[in-house]
Amino acid sequence: MPAATFEIAPETIATLKKHALDAMKMAYAPYSKIHVGAALLASDGNIYTGCNVENASYGLTICAERSAISAAIGAVTKGRQRLLRAIYIVNNKLPAIPPCGACRQVIYEFGEGGIVYFAGKSGLKSLAVAELLPEAFRL
Ligand code: THU
Repeated sequence: MPAATFEIAPETIATLKKHALDAMKMAYAPYSKIHVGAALLASDGNIYTGCNVENASYGLTICAERSAISAAIGAVTKGRQRLLRAIYIVNNKLPAIPPCGACRQVIYEFGEGGIVYFAGKSGLKSLAVAELLPEAFRL
């Protein structure tokens, strides 16, 4: 599969960042204190956001990315298989939060041709969904 298919305009990337930072403010992270926000550009042209939702039973924590994907799936009726055009991830603490393994698999489910943005050591990093999870499991 080719890398990212969709062209994301620089101003759209800036808008995604703004939404992700807003979403980060809603994080429920009393245990790790790492607040994560994600903004997803969906196939309907709208932006859906999510934040991490932790739990006293740590393993039940929901990451910001999966939270944003759930919000989008709950709202978009068409083109759901390729729902995710882009997702931008920010956090309040670490130099970068690339999606965890579980999120990569969920992003892959809806993100063919999509692109993932997150902070890197030298500024913004972007990876095609296909690069993020090579040899992905799929049915
Ligand atoms: N977290 C995310 O929200 N996204 C990721 O891809 C990695 C980790 C959250 C989960 C947890 O609340 C906190 O970051 C520390 O692991």
